[in-house]
Amino acid sequence: MIVLYVLALISCACAQYTVRDPVFEMMSPQGLRISYTDTNGVNLVGLHFNIDTPLAGVAAGQYNIDIVDKSGGAFVYEDQGITVRPGQTIYYWILVVHNSGGFQKTEQSWTVPSPITTTQATTTRTTAATTTTAAPSGGISGGISGGISGGTSGGTTGGTTGGTTGGTTLTGGTTGGITGGITGGITGGITGGITGGLTGGTTFGIAANCKEYPCDAACDQTVAPCNGLIFEENWDKLDFDRWQHELTMSGGGNWEFQMYVNNRSNSYVRDNTLFIKPTLTSEKFGEAALSSETVDIWGMSPADYCTGNAFWGCSRTGTGTNYINPARSARLRTVNSFAFKYGKIEVEAKLPTGDWLWPAIWMLPKHNSYGQWPASGEIDLMESRGNKNARNSQGESIGVDSMGTTMHWGPYWPVNGYAKTHVTKTLSGETFGDRFHKWGLEWTENDLTFYLDDQEIMKVDPGPGGFWELGEFSQTQGAATHNPWQYSDSKLAPFDHEFYIILNLAVGGTNGFFSDQDTFASGKPWSNESPTAFKDFWMAKNQWYPTWNADVNNGEDAALQVKTIRVWKY
Ligand SMILES: *[C@@H]1O[C@H](CO)[C@@H](O)[C@H](O)[C@H]1NC(C)=O
Repeated sequence: MIVLYVLALISCACAQYTVRDPVFEMMSPQGLRISYTDTNGVNLVGLHFNIDTPLAGVAAGQYNIDIVDKSGGAFVYEDQGITVRPGQTIYYWILVVHNSGGFQKTEQSWTVPSPITTTQATTTRTTAATTTTAAPSGGISGGISGGISGGTSGGTTGGTTGGTTGGTTLTGGTTGGITGGITGGITGGITGGITGGLTGGTTFGIAANCKEYPCDAACDQTVAPCNGLIFEENWDKLDFDRWQHELTMSGGGNWEFQMYVNNRSNSYVRDNTLFIKPTLTSEKFGEAALSSETVDIWGMSPADYCTGNAFWGCSRTGTGTNYINPARSARLRTVNSFAFKYGKIEVEAKLPTGDWLWPAIWMLPKHNSYGQWPASGEIDLMESRGNKNARNSQGESIGVDSMGTTMHWGPYWPVNGYAKTHVTKTLSGETFGDRFHKWGLEWTENDLTFYLDDQEIMKVDPGPGGFWELGEFSQTQGAATHNPWQYSDSKLAPFDHEFYIILNLAVGGTNGFFSDQDTFASGKPWSNESPTAFKDFWMAKNQWYPTWNADVNNGEDAALQVKTIRVWKY
């Protein structure tokens, strides 16, 4: 194991700690064993060594190891791949992270005795001056600054800068960077992780402990991911490893009017913002295609494959009555890259303005642990309608000045208790398209609390009977109805499993989200019962398309705009 790592020592002005000598032993038939006896409070023992080549100061060595696991009262490192012969010398320096900070001993060496013994060997100092150095005071002011850059061959050159601030900058090694450093203070924890490598870039050492949540005790609990921040999207770029485009014409199971495509006219990142913008299918294929051509998106490489074939999602043929989806838009999801359970999510977004636009920021279960929708749940942070001047039968606004937050759950489709976990909010004197707002959810093992601009808007705690009793399904669907959540030990089932994030902008649809009973300023150009809804919608284009403002502002008034997304794990 070859490990390259860099440590910066920062400490409070706490008690001194005296670093002892590690014990070197030959292993039988070959190998090297190094051990360091623990005293209370040691979190990590770092050893850097060369064989037969002196090592200056805190330079990286041929071997650089972190020992964080203690066994039998000692931090032990064994490597059967190391062959050392009698008379050879191991030059090393050692770092011990003790609860009051980091302490090191440099310019050390040990010469392999002759004859080879597999019993405990003697540690010999070849330099008279043994210094036990507590890192200077200064708290977190140091840390590791800079990164690793430089050449590869023959090892690395370490340079220490920092002195009183306790920071260390190392030049050497190959590719990779350093994230974090060591944070001092009472906890003496180790910050961040270190990525580096002697050849080809490899991740080793304490980096491995600090890159994933939950974190090792040695990691700094104030720095991501060990402060719980397990996901952050600032849209420096559109990261296709993180966000997968759905490619389908299936209309979300709601006969929505858009097809979802991967096209930079429909989804793009600019100014640290994701834009999902609708366009007309006629712009791409010509208007005649809507009623005459086949659009086939089965695809021929993984990046192209249709992601949803239900409801003729991968191939549709336009006819005089069945038009193909007249709008194009995008739906992005983290299903392959990120999902979480329990924690906090916050999303900042500005909603689209324009008739029949239906944006959503929501989550679906990564695994359908209780079966198909809605048995495994759905969490909608935000759904809205882009229409101005839209009202329901009670006269309440349901347009772009309002939005809804909903949880969907039920034993099987279409039985769904969502009405008990649904809230709408309406702004006065402004709309959700005027500026960015923040949607939040705090999700614990006990309840889910939803926020709009940091104000609580809904708290859902199903009580000890869980969502089964909250939904009163036995009463409404009959006592014989199967409870998909009965074997879960969580009252939150189905909301006790990992969910992933979805961002999309839909257009219209016949499922009733745009209800025939509601009142829309310009009238609703299709009936949800119409077998020719797609055509009816398209024929009324002159009525709704102008409201999308395609010619001003790069058409972005009609775009769902998403800024920072953060998820913290509890
Ligand atoms: C992307 O969408 C635009 C607008 O509809 C269209 O003009 C363009 O051809 C599309 N690009 C691709 C690669 O399909």
